[in-house]
Amino acid sequence: MADDRLIVALDVPNALAALKLTETIGDTVSFYKIGLGMLTGGGLAVANELKQEHGKRIFLDMKLFDIGATVEAAVRGLAQFDLDFLTVHGDPHVVRAAKEGAAGKDLKILGVTILTSLDREDLDASLIKPGDIRDLVQERAARAFEAGADGVIASPQEAAMIRALPQAEGRLIVTPGVRPAGAALGDQKRVATPANAIADGADHIVVGRPVWQAESPRAAAEAIVAELAEL
Ligand code: C5P
Repeated sequence: MADDRLIVALDVPNALAALKLTETIGDTVSFYKIGLGMLTGGGLAVANELKQEHGKRIFLDMKLFDIGATVEAAVRGLAQFDLDFLTVHGDPHVVRAAKEGAAGKDLKILGVTILTSLDREDLDASLIKPGDIRDLVQERAARAFEAGADGVIASPQEAAMIRALPQAEGRLIVTPGVRPAGAALGDQKRVATPANAIADGADHIVVGRPVWQAESPRAAAEAIVAELAEL
């Protein structure tokens, strides 16, 4: 049976490939993430079909960032699609605007703290204030929660530190960068196993390539669900 703590990232190029993959996976997965890469390939249509026809939960990973009025309008439009999770950058003005746009809908707004692909040198280049990245991540998570975010995206290494924040009480932590033991890392650097990420305070884990690139995506997903069941 599916475990909705597992979210599978549908990082395939188009709607056809996505629907074929979800058919192969079947009942083992109940929650899917659709990202920017599939937006022009029918991403929103896939979201609709998976939700309406197959009862799946949907995480739309748009990482929105703009002036408040534009974010609010974008979220109000996206909220018509009956989505479950939507990402925006965790800047307080963006989170507040997204929450306004989602008002009255059962759509959770998740804030991105600092992209896990960025290092200190990248932050310097973007004129982000000095300091250890982990401290900045924790500070941004706290501010996103204070602005009303229903949750944040964090690397598994950051999950425990964010879970410890008083502001995190009752909020969600969703972690990509998860690799079952023995799986290829790809470009992910700071990874944890599904069980470790959950044990450190994540509510949901996002797993992409270890599932969709597997010879048997269904068996790969089943193995993760089994690992979570042992917790
Ligand atoms: O294939 P993999 O398991 O690495 O996919 C992880 C998914 O999570 C991808 O869709 C990736 O874009 C997303 N993600 C991430 N790191 C972040 C934010 C999102 O890997 N910090």
